[in-house]
This record gives sequence, structure tokens and C-alpha cells, in this order.
Amino acid sequence: MRTYYLRSFGCQMNAHDAERIRALLEAEGLERADEPDGADVLVYNTCTVRQSADERLAGHLGTAARLKREDRGRIVLVTGCLPQAEQDDFFRRFPFVDGALGPQNLQRLPELLAAAVEPAAKGRPPGFFADGPAMSGDLAARRERPYQAWVQIMSGCTNFCSYCIVPQVRGPERSREIGALVAEVRVLVADGVREVTLLGQNVNAYGLDLRRGGREGAPDFPALLRALDAVPGLARVRFMTSHPKDLSGDLIRAIAELPSACEHVHLPAQAGSDRVLAAMARGYTAAAYLERVHALRAAVPDVSVTTDLIAGFPGESDDDFAQTLELVRAAEFDAAFTFVFSARRGTAAADLPGQLAADVKRERVERLIALTQELALRSRRRWVGRRAEVLIEGPSRDGKSLRGRTRQNVTANVTGATEPGAIVEIEVTGASSTTLRGRA
Ligand code: SAM
Ligand code: SF4
Ligand code: F3S
Repeated sequence: MRTYYLRSFGCQMNAHDAERIRALLEAEGLERADEPDGADVLVYNTCTVRQSADERLAGHLGTAARLKREDRGRIVLVTGCLPQAEQDDFFRRFPFVDGALGPQNLQRLPELLAAAVEPAAKGRPPGFFADGPAMSGDLAARRERPYQAWVQIMSGCTNFCSYCIVPQVRGPERSREIGALVAEVRVLVADGVREVTLLGQNVNAYGLDLRRGGREGAPDFPALLRALDAVPGLARVRFMTSHPKDLSGDLIRAIAELPSACEHVHLPAQAGSDRVLAAMARGYTAAAYLERVHALRAAVPDVSVTTDLIAGFPGESDDDFAQTLELVRAAEFDAAFTFVFSARRGTAAADLPGQLAADVKRERVERLIALTQELALRSRRRWVGRRAEVLIEGPSRDGKSLRGRTRQNVTANVTGATEPGAIVEIEVTGASSTTLRGRA
């Protein structure tokens, strides 16, 4: 075995897991290949949050099956949320896969690889599913970006929103120790990192599991932000995702006061009807959600508030959906991810009555997309003629300028004297719904 090809899908948590998978494989002496065709080991790091994710993966695994037919010595491994959700069914669907493990067991990847190379010698049949409780937060990552890094502050989720498969596949909420997090960030900064993104399904619940477990004094999320703000040389701290029910006044104060805390909160609303929010088990009403957004905007100048929205939850009436549109207008979101409800096996919402037809869901999501894009364009245009701070990340897509992101997490194409890694002030000269243009 000499080379590996890795393809990752899904959320930022999975993208960060992919960095750990690279570190684990490279520690085994494998070298990275950018195409699957010539690689000895093919690894697919999967997502299963919606049906569309499963369908996309099936296409990639079709390629893997063909490559495996051409060369029986090739190894195909699947990691991430799909095999965790499907367990043994996974191998019935994809019998050519040599081994699979879930996101809570990444550290067992070398073992899985060894078993796949010599299944008989290791005494395990091919298709070994490495299971068992563990926490991969402390694993090393092979970082993909020079000036930015992900830091996983917690794993899992215990919210059990009725539509969501994440608690099943990622396990219960578990926070890492603040000392380990601060130490990790110090090492990253010494290695040139200027911006970290703190990752968790619900970052503002950080530390609550430790407190519930008897550690009364365990630091909470605002305390973590304060501790990281004190790390010399760290310019920016981003964090996602925030849950509206846990967005405290203290957290809003911390974002307002701390120079490193970026003015961007990703705050999934999901829906605007209280009836639907209750059926989703989200733990807030539309009015409470808007109150939080208004408090945030009042305390943090230029804060960007972005969201996730689901169209077509079971039983969603025309009137319920109209209330989602109303909430979107009232919150004036700076950007949004919009999804069609997808029934996931084992979740409460999959068995609810009133599942809607595909064309109804599609028509609703298209209306949401149109509205949120209009708001995004308005939000970006407000920056034209003003100054914004940009961390330069690398060349722009067309190669003609440099590209970076503002504190509000908006992509900016920048001309003028600057270089990757620099944090510059730009004068914004133009805007589209996704991107700003400006001069350093
Ligand atoms: N923890 C975050 C939160 O609380 O919103 C993100 C969870 S999930 C990885 C990202 C988004 O996918 C969710 O916010 C939700 O909008 C969407 N999502 C999750 N399950 C879904 C489903 N069954 N159908 C459609 N969208 C879904
Ligand atoms: Fe899923 Fe809800 Fe947890 Fe987010 S908070 S990961 S939507 S269960
Ligand atoms: Fe997908 Fe798993 Fe993330 S299901 S969205 S990769 S937590």
C-alpha cells in the first residue's frame, strides 16, 4: 500500500474528521492521492443527514466498486455517519466495502486498515465494523488551511430535534476540557494560525454536560471564549453551531466585548410556526427566537445572523409555512441554508402523520431560497462604500485577485498590496449575494 484517496461529505465537523483521517493514514505511511483511479486505499467519509446525501454517496461508491473490480487488492473503507446509522445493513447494501466505522471511533482506523489488508490473519471477516464508545476530539489533524483551523470543543448532541439523525450517529453531548482546548489553540497559533472555528452541534451548550456530571465549576461557552481571547496572537474566533435556546445574555456580551470573537452567529431557526417548532422539539417559539436576534443585533454592531431552515416538515400547513417566511423577513437574515424535509430512519419525525408530497416541499423551499437570497444581497450591499476587515486566505477563484473572509464570514475578493495570511482593512467597492469586492 502506498497511496490513499479521501473524499469527505457533510458538515464542518466531518471536514475536520477528514483532517484527522488524513493524519491517521499518513502516520501509517500512506501518501495522499488526489484522484481515486490510481490509489491503493479509497476512503469515503460520509454524511447521512438527508436522503440527498445518501444518494450522492451511492454514486461515488459506484466508482469505488468499479475500481475494486479492476484491482481486487484495492481497499475501500467507509467512515462517518452513514455506516454508523445503518450498522450491518450498510454491508448488505455495499458488500464490496472492506471496512467501516462511525465518527465516534476514528482512532480505530489503523486497526480497520490492518484488518482489511489481512482479514484472516487478524481473525476478522471483511466488513469489520469498529464500534464502541470513544471520543475522537483529541486526535491530531492534518490541517488543510495554513491560517485557519477547526477546533472541536465538543462531540455529539443530546437535543434530539425530531427530524435529526445526528444524536443517533454522533452520540451524546460531550465537552472537552478547557485546558486541552486552550493548549491546542496555542499550538495552532505557534504554527501560524490566525483564526480558529470552534466546532460543536450546539457550541453554546459547551460545559453543561460536565456541570450536570457533577463538575459545578466547569467553564461554560462564554468562559471558553474569554480564555481563548487571552491567547496571544490569535486574531479571530468563530464558532458554530449555536442553538437559539442556549443563546444567553452572557454569551451576547462576550461576543460584543471580546476583540477576537467574530461578529457572526449561525443560529438555525428551522421554522417560524410555533406549532411546527414544538413538533420539531426545538425548545423555543418564533417570538423567543426573534427576541434573541434583536438582542444580538442591539448589542453587537454589524453582527451577521445566518440560519438553517427546513421546508415541508410533516403537517406543515400553508399558514405554518407563511409564518416561516414572516420570521425570515423579521429576522433579516444575512444568509441562510435552506433544506427540504427528509425523513430519516429512526427519527421521531419520520413516523409523523402528514408527510408532504415532494412537489409541495420543493415549491416551498424555492420560495425560501428566493427570499433569503434577496435578503443576502441586501445584507452584502450595505457594506459597499464601507470598510471591512479581511483575513486573506489565498488566490481568488479566477486567479486575478486574492480571496479572504470578513469577520462576518462573507467571502471577499481583494485587490491591492496584501498577501495570504494578512489581516487587512478593505474598502468595499461592490457586492453580490455571496461575495464582496474591495481594495486593501
Ligand atoms: N446542530 C445544528 C443545529 O442545531 O441546527 C446543525 C445540525 S444539522 C448537521 C444541519 C442542518 O441540517 C440543520 O440545522 C437542519 O436545518 C438540517 N437538517 C437536519 N436534519 C434534517 C432533515 N431530516 N431534513 C432536512 N433538513 C435537516
Ligand atoms: Fe440535530 Fe437538533 Fe442536535 Fe442540531 S441541535 S444536531 S438539529 S438534534
Ligand atoms: Fe452529516 Fe454527520 Fe454532519 S450526518 S451533517 S456529517 S454530523
